[in-house]
Formats: sequence, structure tokens, C-alpha cells
Amino acid sequence: MKFIIDDADIEKVREIWDLYPCDGVTTNPSILAKSGRNPYEVLTELREIVGKDGELHVQVVSKDAEGMVKEAAVIRERLGENTFVKIPTTPQGLKAMKILSAQGVNITATAIYTPMQGFLAAKAGAKYAAPYVNRIDNMGYDGIKTAMDIHDIFENNGLNTEVLAASFKNSQQVLELTKYGIGAATVGTAVIEGLIKNAAITSAIDAFVDDFAGLVGEGKTMM
Ligand code: E4P
Repeated sequence: MKFIIDDADIEKVREIWDLYPCDGVTTNPSILAKSGRNPYEVLTELREIVGKDGELHVQVVSKDAEGMVKEAAVIRERLGENTFVKIPTTPQGLKAMKILSAQGVNITATAIYTPMQGFLAAKAGAKYAAPYVNRIDNMGYDGIKTAMDIHDIFENNGLNTEVLAASFKNSQQVLELTKYGIGAATVGTAVIEGLIKNAAITSAIDAFVDDFAGLVGEGKTMM
């Protein structure tokens, strides 16, 4: 499973990228709006952080296929041809996906709330389909099950598309889909920081350090 950062706070993304084994960064217009900065400046800095081969996902804002296709061209020209263009999974979005996938564009189908959206996005050539796990839960449905169903639909139909689960609000949601072996999860920095935050870990390490200090003296290490 690819592990992706869902954030555009440059300092936070840099910190998480440095510490954790991450494969890329996803953004959406709302995430970019939180930075209060020029979006292309932020995206250029994110591209520098992930490097030319890291995954960067950038969403279009147009609601019509023609506009989406034009935006995709600008996104790829400014941020690299391997940039994943996030297209909302609407009828116009499916049209844009068909056009763009025929041109070899990396597509992440987004705003997915139902398994059927995932199926149609895959048929239209998307490389990833992004179900919004927590938002689905908040609607009274099962976000984890939706993501699993989409994963199964891809496998059972021989579709070459991966689930990129998004909109996580806690570690358990991430763990459930990691166990299931979905293609990728994109996780906000606050949730990432909670994934292995555990008093038992801290206390075990403190005890090791104290025991070693008792043996060779305070502040001494294996060096
Ligand atoms: C990512 O592709 C989605 O846009 C994002 O995860 C949505 O997250 P939210 O539900 O926390 O806004």
C-alpha cells in the first residue's frame, strides 16, 4: 500500500516527509485554500519535497470536461507530466477521464462516495479511485466497506486501477484498509502523527535509556 500525505502545509509536509516512509502528497482546492498562498507556489514547493518521481496529486476546479482537460494540461506543464490530475467522478469528469487517459495522463478519480463511481472511473481509465472514507461514515454509511467494495470490484473485473482511500479521521480507519491491502491511503498530517503515538512505546524506550545510563553513565550512547 502506498502511503501518501494529504496536506499542503509546506513545513508540516516537509517534517512528515523527512520522518515517515511516504510515497507522495495529495491536495485538493480546500487543502490549498487553507495555506492562504498562491496555489502554484505551494504546489511547486510540494513537487520539490516529493522529488520528480514522488507522487503529487492536484485537483481540477472546472465542472465541465473541456475545462478539466485544459486544467490538466496546465497542471502537467507546470508540475511535471507524471503529476496525477484529480478529476471529480461526475458524468463530465468521466468524459474528461476518457479523453485524458487516452493521452496517457495519470488520473486520480476523486469525490467518490459509491462503489459504482469507482467502477465507472476505472472503466474511464483512472489509475486511482479515491473514496472519502470518513465523509461516507459521516453520512451514515460505511466508508471502510465502500473502499473494500471498490477494491474488490477492481480485482473481480480485472481493472488496472487502485483504490486511493482518502478522508481519514483516525488510525483505526487507516489500519483496516492497510490490512485489506488496498493500493494507497492518503492521510492528513494530524492523523499520521497519531498512527504510532503510544505511551507504551515512549515508556519502553525511556526504560531502555535509563537502564543504559545506569550502566555507563548519563547521556552516553553506543558510540
Ligand atoms: C483527498 O483526495 C480528499 O480530497 C481528502 O482526503 C478529503 O478529506 P476531508 O474529508 O478531510 O476533507
